[in-house]
Amino acid sequence: MSTTTNTNTNTNTNTNTNTNTNTATTTALLQVKDLVREYTLPREHLFRPPGTVQALNGVSFSIAAGRSLGVVGESGSGKSTLARLVMALDAPTAGTVELLGRNLHQLPAEDLRQARRDFQMVFQDPYGSLDPRQTVERIITEPLQAQGQATRAEQREQAGQVLAQVGLRTNDLGKYPHEFSGGQRQRIAIARALITRPRLIVADEPVSALDVSVQAQVLNLMQDLQQQFGITYMLISHDLAVVNHLCDEVVVLYQGRIVERGSPAELFRNAQHPYTQSLVNAVPQVQPGRARARRAAAAAAAAAKIA
Ligand SMILES: Nc1ncnc2c1ncn2[C@@H]1O[C@H](COP(=O)(O)OP(=O)(O)OP(=O)(O)O)[C@@H](O)[C@H]1O
Ligand SMILES: [Mg+2]
Repeated sequence: MSTTTNTNTNTNTNTNTNTNTNTATTTALLQVKDLVREYTLPREHLFRPPGTVQALNGVSFSIAAGRSLGVVGESGSGKSTLARLVMALDAPTAGTVELLGRNLHQLPAEDLRQARRDFQMVFQDPYGSLDPRQTVERIITEPLQAQGQATRAEQREQAGQVLAQVGLRTNDLGKYPHEFSGGQRQRIAIARALITRPRLIVADEPVSALDVSVQAQVLNLMQDLQQQFGITYMLISHDLAVVNHLCDEVVVLYQGRIVERGSPAELFRNAQHPYTQSLVNAVPQVQPGRARARRAAAAAAAAAKIA
């Protein structure tokens, strides 16, 4: 006897009509397999084939729901390329990106548009990534406008809610980006990412344009939101201290490949790859008491000068 899908109208418990029912429970939220992205460079010689850049060269990892993966690597190592492929803003030369068991790069256009509510992105530059001519309300509700389902009143209400969740006020909705500080603008960018209640947020250097004290506030906010909503993060940074703040696991990209992976603590303790070692050495070591001693010495010297 074959088991057919029961479409009985009084069973309203399962709205998921996905045919792949047994993968959803076992797969990670995000699974990236053997990802390759090759770029063709502009042709320089008439009779020679154009050169290519291997921006990603066989990258595989997965992130479990509600966890955070840090991606670190030097400039040009392929971090933003990886982010674009995970966000389905660019197509891979080879390999797959599966979110909730669906291969994003093989979804029909309309399905992909709908799926976009599950994954959102926060960019590095809080000045460049917000359109200066749009009000905060228009900026924040843009992902909802793209989905095309909520009414204007619903959009406004949800915008007010997410703005409060990132620590801004509802009456900021009518303002423009230039009326905010860098940290506040990045909160607006996070609110925009949050408005579709995504499962995954990809953040490409989200705090590197901010002052160190503001960096900590924004990272703490991201952490609070993760606890509140169970968001999964892929956090890209060249700063191991930033990744350490938020991530359970880190992969180190070097020339388009993952050369090392582990918890931030493991990497701090026992980095193997020379590039990871240089990153670890770049993190300022906090030595309690040292700054206090330095300040006391400076105060004593100043007092001696006055006397
Ligand atoms: N559209 C493109 N066309 C050609 N080459 C590209 C393109 N995008 C990226 N690349 C190349 O791919 C490699 C990886 O670039 P990518 O932007 O992913 O690096 P990144 O790790 O994000 O660097 P950064 O830390 O400077 O942001 C680089 O060599 C870059 O020049
Ligand atoms: Mg980049």
